[in-house]
Amino acid sequence: MMLRPPHQSVTGSILVADDQTANRELLQELLSAQGFTVIAVPDGAAALEQLSSTQIDLVLLDVMMPRLTGFAVCEKIKSNPATDLVPVVLITSLSDRQDRLQGIKAGADDFLTRPVDPTELLARVRSLLKLKQRTDELERAESVLFSLARSIESKDPYTHGHCERLVEYSVRLGEQVGLPEEQVTALRRGAVVHDIGKVAVPDAILLKPGRLTEEEWKIVREHPVIGERICEPLKSFRAVLPIIRHHHEKYDGSGYPDGLRGDAVPITARVLQIVDVFDALTTERPYKKAFSASDALQTMREEVAKGWWDPQVFDQFVQVVRADATGFRSCGAAAAGTNR
Ligand SMILES: [Fe+2]
Repeated sequence: MMLRPPHQSVTGSILVADDQTANRELLQELLSAQGFTVIAVPDGAAALEQLSSTQIDLVLLDVMMPRLTGFAVCEKIKSNPATDLVPVVLITSLSDRQDRLQGIKAGADDFLTRPVDPTELLARVRSLLKLKQRTDELERAESVLFSLARSIESKDPYTHGHCERLVEYSVRLGEQVGLPEEQVTALRRGAVVHDIGKVAVPDAILLKPGRLTEEEWKIVREHPVIGERICEPLKSFRAVLPIIRHHHEKYDGSGYPDGLRGDAVPITARVLQIVDVFDALTTERPYKKAFSASDALQTMREEVAKGWWDPQVFDQFVQVVRADATGFRSCGAAAAGTNR
């Protein structure tokens, strides 16, 4: 059969796992001839070992293998956050419906049937590698934003660990109030990047130990809108934008930038702000000691009574804090000073 000439635009490392030497060599030959880097292993356990030590862009798995079946390997790849975005193709001996169903359950991205048709194999490999390239680009863009957000956080030594605490507790509170997975994911990202707009706030204001002038406050208050603008081009951040823009709104409409009131403040923003405020209160700053968890909750209860925070989300948060025997550790938070 005539094969297409090597395709220049798609490259990648392909891991082939098959216990039959002849099958393995055939796949290796076909793919190497097209310019792909191929690593071939004889069983599932060896495949997982390769994945943990080598950058792999695509996995071709025989279903029936000793030690670990293709299904089991696929399941492990898809349940590990370090590899879950690597596409997996399962190669089955028959076009058995049961095998396909089990493969779909295991998270397989595609299937090939033996005997493998070279044209079909290469077409699928190229299309999955293209998809992987786009995922990688997106991941790089996201990691640039995360690095920027963390570099802003690290300007202030008192904010050490702020991001990690916010991520952990906003995810827990999001789950506690029953948010769908997509919004919990948005919270995980929003917890890191919500203050990214502070990149536009001069250090003299951001790190000022004393009170801010009205003019300086005006500049600080622009950070949610600037942050939204920075993250807007990234499609995967669509659900994160409301968190960034509205994390300083208040339930009674007295917040900024839009003065939204009540449930008009997006639920994800209401979740993040409660965690953010609590972290600020339980954090030591140059001008204040860290509150204990119960003192912080008492202060926030008073703020709920004033109309600042969503009472129902706050009640759920109290349960999260109570469930956590250790509570928040007391170290710096960005929200304590200019952020509130
Ligand atoms: Fe903020």
